[in-house]
Amino acid sequence: MKHERRKPFPNDFLWGGSTSAYQVEGAWNEDGKGPSVIDMAKYPEGTTDFKVASDHYHRYKEDIALFAEMGFKVYRFSIAWTRIYPNGDGEVNRKGIEFYDQLINEIRKHGIEPIVTIYHFDLPYALQEKGGWSNRATIDAYENYCKTLFEHFGDRVKYWLTINEQNMMILHGEAIGTVDPNLKNPKKELYQQNHHMFVAQAKAMALCHRMLPDAKIGPAPNIVTIYPASSKPKDVLAANNYAAIRNWLYLDMAVYGRYNNIAWAYLEEKGYTPTILEGDMEILQNAKPDFIAFNYYTSQTVAASEGNEEDVKQTGDQHITVGEPGVYKGASNPHLKRNEFGWEIDPVGFRTTLREIYDRYHLPLIVTENGLGAIDQLEEGDVINDTYRIEFLRNHIEQMQLAISDGVEVFGFCPWSAIDLVSTHQGISKRYGFIYVNRDEFDLKDLRRIRKQSFYWYKQVISSNGANLD
Ligand code: BG6
Repeated sequence: MKHERRKPFPNDFLWGGSTSAYQVEGAWNEDGKGPSVIDMAKYPEGTTDFKVASDHYHRYKEDIALFAEMGFKVYRFSIAWTRIYPNGDGEVNRKGIEFYDQLINEIRKHGIEPIVTIYHFDLPYALQEKGGWSNRATIDAYENYCKTLFEHFGDRVKYWLTINEQNMMILHGEAIGTVDPNLKNPKKELYQQNHHMFVAQAKAMALCHRMLPDAKIGPAPNIVTIYPASSKPKDVLAANNYAAIRNWLYLDMAVYGRYNNIAWAYLEEKGYTPTILEGDMEILQNAKPDFIAFNYYTSQTVAASEGNEEDVKQTGDQHITVGEPGVYKGASNPHLKRNEFGWEIDPVGFRTTLREIYDRYHLPLIVTENGLGAIDQLEEGDVINDTYRIEFLRNHIEQMQLAISDGVEVFGFCPWSAIDLVSTHQGISKRYGFIYVNRDEFDLKDLRRIRKQSFYWYKQVISSNGANLD
């Protein structure tokens, strides 16, 4: 639909940026922090680990000042569970509480609203050793961790996100580094873990509403529109299957507290249905999110699979579809360009995604990740001409405004990432930030912060409330 007149962004629109603890903080074993599954994972050859990352733990004041200079209204970051509970549960680590106290105070001092992701991929390793999300005790540990966060930070944090990209941990956990390599029947086990995460999330939402009546909480999956590779009815059906398994399984559960019927039929067909204990469905149905947060980088395209095992491609990347025999297989979209890492670039798909989510759930939406990973060049005189990133974000913001003009309620946009950080599996060379961090894959250099061209551009986008995207 063409709009002759676009609706402006709401006056109180929350412009900001995102990071996650393990990708930005560093200080991986300082001040009592315990190891997480990410600290213990193997990293692809040639890519750095997360031990120092962007050293935000020691430089957060400088970083927050730069975010304030850009005009951020909100800053979305995650709390490292292992700083608060080094063993996942048990005794609280005071130093961990202190760090986030200071971080939150610093953010607020600059007039920025914090948005906290409770759990962003970095499950405590001590819990993983006891079975991780396969063990129902992890649900209790998560609930207890949430209670601690609400108690300590609830007076200053209004927006909470339960779990980052639960769907990517289930579908692409190997790429991200969250899957226990010792699982005997991985898919079946993963869907059991998925169920436990659903229950944990529901408990967190209910607890938040009980403890912090003025706060708002929601899920943060990665949701994208799914195209059929052609108009062949079987391809359309495959897209419908994949949308249910990848997207709606997660949001139907978060919002309505029920398993999506197509996704459930798939689990039954494959023998992956989880064990559901008495009382679980009640917990799931009694919890409601206040909003939906979601991450969007690219759309996906799939075709019909006749059941051939070769339709499964071990891609090792969360945005390149793996495939499932007899259900769907990954396909490429000939109408889209790709970034340097093979991810298709699809701003119009972003508008469609916003429409689809709102149409299904009618809850306010916030975009908690969107951005372009690229290999930036630091030029003479501390210049980074990341015009490709500006173009990517401009095109997506334009489509977001069109979605708003379509009547979709969007209240915030937090691109990935506020500052350069280490990618999930492609090192620090794959950069996303508005601020360059001067280090290489294995040479930490001076880690100094340098404003990229996109920094100045985004500052102007925010100060004009999205009216000036040039
Ligand atoms: C999302 C994650 O999957 O995408 C982030 O929530 C991640 O943690 C981002 O960094 C970009 O992916 P990648 O693999 O390029 O780091």
